[in-house]
Amino acid sequence: MPVPLLDLRAQHATIRDDVVRAMMEVVDSQHFILGEQVERLEADVAALCRARFAIGCASGTDALLLALRALDIGRGDEVITTPFTFFATAGTIHNVGATPVFVDVDRATFNIAPSAIAAAITPRTKAIVPVDLFGQMAALEAVEAAAPGIPVIEDAAQSIGARRKIGGAWRMAGEVPTIGTFSFFPSKNLGGYGDGGMMVTQDEALATRLRRLRVHGGAKQYFHDEVGYNSRLDALQAAVLRAKLPHLAAWSQKRRENARFYDGAFSGIRHIRTPVIDPNNESIFNQYTIRVEQRDELQAFLKAREIGTSIYYPLPLHLQPCFSYLGYKRGSCPESERAAADVISLPIYPELSRTQLEEVAGAVRTFYGD
Ligand SMILES: Cc1ncc(COP(=O)(O)O)c(C=O)c1O
Repeated sequence: MPVPLLDLRAQHATIRDDVVRAMMEVVDSQHFILGEQVERLEADVAALCRARFAIGCASGTDALLLALRALDIGRGDEVITTPFTFFATAGTIHNVGATPVFVDVDRATFNIAPSAIAAAITPRTKAIVPVDLFGQMAALEAVEAAAPGIPVIEDAAQSIGARRKIGGAWRMAGEVPTIGTFSFFPSKNLGGYGDGGMMVTQDEALATRLRRLRVHGGAKQYFHDEVGYNSRLDALQAAVLRAKLPHLAAWSQKRRENARFYDGAFSGIRHIRTPVIDPNNESIFNQYTIRVEQRDELQAFLKAREIGTSIYYPLPLHLQPCFSYLGYKRGSCPESERAAADVISLPIYPELSRTQLEEVAGAVRTFYGD
C-alpha cells in the first residue's frame, strides 16, 4: 500500500465545505489584501501563542526578514543561529546584510546547543535565532541565559502550538522571545493554500514597526518612514487558516499518537534511534525524524515500496556553497554534520490510518531484518 510522506488531499477532504465557504466569502467581498480576515487570524494566533501582538505577512521567510529588520540588524552585525535547519533561517540573516554565525546543535533534540552559544558571542552579536526544529521548541530559557540582553528571534516555522515548561510553567512557541516567527507553508501543521507567515511579539513598539515594514515601511499610505517590503498576508489565506485553526490541536495530538506508535514499533531495534523529546517539551511533530544506520539504503528500500520519506536536511547550512565565504570547514559543527548523514523523516500526518502506520513500521523493521 502506498504511503506518501504527506497527504494534503486527505486533510482537505475532511474540511472542504468549511474552507470553500470561507474562501467564497472572501471572493464575494472582493477584499483580498489584509483587512478583516487577516486581523481576525492575527487575533486568533496571538491568543494561541499568548502574545500581545501578531502580524501576518507573506511567508515564514519574510517573517524572519521583517523580524531582523525590526531589530535594526544589518551590515556589520552578527546573528547566531543553527546550521541544522531550513535554509531561510540563515538566508534571511545574509539578506539583511548581516553575518550568520553557526553554533552546533544538541545531539538529542537537533536544536541549537545553548552551551555552545557563549563562545560565539562578540561585540557585533545583535541577535540569536534558535529554531524549534521538527515541532519541538528550543531550550529558549537556556539560550537567553547564555546571551543575556541579546534579542532572540524564535524561528517557530515548524512549531505552531508547541509548548515548553519554563520555570515550572508551560510557555507557547512564540510567547517568550523578542519576536517569534511562523510559516503557513502548506506542509506545516497549520498550512495555508499557498504561502503565508506570521510574527508575534509582546512589545508594542516592535509590533508597530513590523506592521509598517510589511507595507513598504509607511504607516500612512504613500508616506514612507523607512524602506520596507510588500509582505502582506492574503485575505484568502487568512480565511483558509481560520477555517483550519480550530482543528490544529487535534491534528497535533494525532501526530503525537502516531509518533508513539512508531516509537513502540521501533523500540529494541538497535539500528534506529527514535526522536528524543525533551521532557520539558510537548512537540507538535511536524516531522517524525529518526536516526538510522544505512540511511540511504533504507530510503531506497522504502521508496521501492511506495513509502514516502525525506531527508531534513542533507547538507547543514555552514557547508552550503553560498556560505563558503564564511570559512566553515567540515568538522566545524560535528553534531549537525552527523545528523545530516543519519536522519530520515517518515510519514506522520494526522490522517494516516492504522494500516498505513503498520505498513511503514513493518517495512522499516523488515529492512533491518526484524
Ligand atoms: C525552520 C524554518 N524556517 C523558515 C521557513 C520558511 O518558511 P516559508 O516557507 O513560509 O517561507 C521554514 C519553512 O519551510 C522552516 O521550516
